[in-house]
Amino acid sequence: MSPWEQAADFAIGLRPIPATAWLQGGEAAPWLRKDPLFADHRNLVWGEIEGSRDGQEEVAALVGAALGAQPAPGGLPPLYAAARRVTDDLCLMEKTDGAWRLTALSLSAPTFFTAGEALGCSLAELHGPVPSFGDRFLARVQRVFEALRPDVVLERRNWTLVNSPELFAPDPAPMRARIADLAPADAGRELRIRVERQTLRRLPRTGGAVFTIRVSLEPLAALLADPPRLAGFAKAWRSATPQFRQYKRLDLYDDLVGDFLRAAGETYSVNGSASCN
Ligand code: HEM
Repeated sequence: MSPWEQAADFAIGLRPIPATAWLQGGEAAPWLRKDPLFADHRNLVWGEIEGSRDGQEEVAALVGAALGAQPAPGGLPPLYAAARRVTDDLCLMEKTDGAWRLTALSLSAPTFFTAGEALGCSLAELHGPVPSFGDRFLARVQRVFEALRPDVVLERRNWTLVNSPELFAPDPAPMRARIADLAPADAGRELRIRVERQTLRRLPRTGGAVFTIRVSLEPLAALLADPPRLAGFAKAWRSATPQFRQYKRLDLYDDLVGDFLRAAGETYSVNGSASCN
């Protein structure tokens, strides 16, 4: 199910999936995409804290078990050696001084943050910019991390709208600066729904957890082939809460999305009051 059908508001939305469905594969050579970023933008896409190598090794072993063992090129940190084999970005979470922290990460498809700024952050700090996260979600998410059993893999999805085909998007500013130049007729092609599929699983030996992020991008125009999905998107766009809209800057796209939905025959109103005639 598309994430916009599940939530037009922030949600935890974690559900268990079979361990065999952990990493979805499908990209022939992820290292061709990741290695140049690792070479040229190291601080944006990679970070590790001293003492995290043991946990990194355990993530690498899990990836090896899922994909089949393969000798890694020499000299790479174990988490990066594992991440370059898979589409997903890999984040190592470990509990230090009573807080779950990001102790190593390979982040080649960032959605508006960087490895350098996220490294070492606690769950509370990572989610500082998310409205009401502390009040609504933090304690529950911390409990999920505490209670996670080794045989369970959890999955969630989120979504936003973008006007860029790039997976590597550490900063939204250059993309947003181009919105004004977009022609309404091109909206279906230029605007994309950016979905993150995230998973969480325990590292039984070291006690940490691995959080994965996999980004996919779908042009709005693709929804035209599937009227129920188009209607679902129109509904989510209309009913998204003000906080959600503000955080994701959906307001920047209102005119373009409105034109697109009207051209597609969908009744459209930001406030949800669809017209009666
Ligand atoms: C597994 C439990 C988690 C839940 C339920 C959760 C939930 C959320 C939610 C609701 C948002 C707002 C955007 C959205 O998804 O709609 C968010 C944003 C974010 N999350 Fe999480 N998250 C979890 C784990 C993590 C972990 C382990 C990391 C570590 C990399 C992380 C990093 C972030 C970042 C960097 C943002 C964007 C914050 C910003 O705007 O700068 N999350 N998360």
